[in-house]
Amino acid sequence: MKRFGPRTRKAILLVHILAAGVWLGVDVVMAVFVGVAATTDDPSTRMLSFRALDTFAVPSLLTTGTISLLSGLLLGLGSRYGLVRYWWVAVKLVLNLILTALVLVGLAPAIQRSLELAAVGDLAYPPVVSPVCLLIAYTLAVFKPWGRISKSRPTA
Ligand code: HEM
Repeated sequence: MKRFGPRTRKAILLVHILAAGVWLGVDVVMAVFVGVAATTDDPSTRMLSFRALDTFAVPSLLTTGTISLLSGLLLGLGSRYGLVRYWWVAVKLVLNLILTALVLVGLAPAIQRSLELAAVGDLAYPPVVSPVCLLIAYTLAVFKPWGRISKSRPTA
């Protein structure tokens, strides 16, 4: 893929960093609502928290996860980093794909179960798993550890 000019690359990097930042912000709001639902004695407050999660969490996380993924793919493909050339990029790619898929197969059904049962249940996990994985991704992005995946390139 053609390399981007410095301005275009910085614009994509800005979108990428903003998407990752908003993603973590949505995780924090999600944690607040799950925390309120887990600790309140008032059933209507608990249900309101589940309804709030039902309204905002899945669309916001899918949007930020997809923008982060697409901008990350452009940054990788349009630079010397590639997608599977460096460990730090490849691991972030896997984390991004897993987290985005988990929104659909883990979070969305957990919210529906909480609405039906009026209990936090499996909803306790997403506000822990998602920020921990995101913080790992942030750390990898900044420190860029572990170098290249394959040290020697095939000659043929
Ligand atoms: C999992 C969520 C992700 C987070 C939280 C994240 C975070 C970041 C951050 C904070 C930067 C800026 C680093 C810097 O300028 O020093 C960055 C840059 C970058 N990210 Fe991501 N990223 C994520 C996903 C991805 C994905 C999926 C890819 C590629 C498939 C990717 C590829 C890149 C590349 C190539 C850069 C450019 C590094 C540079 O030019 O210095 N990222 N990422």
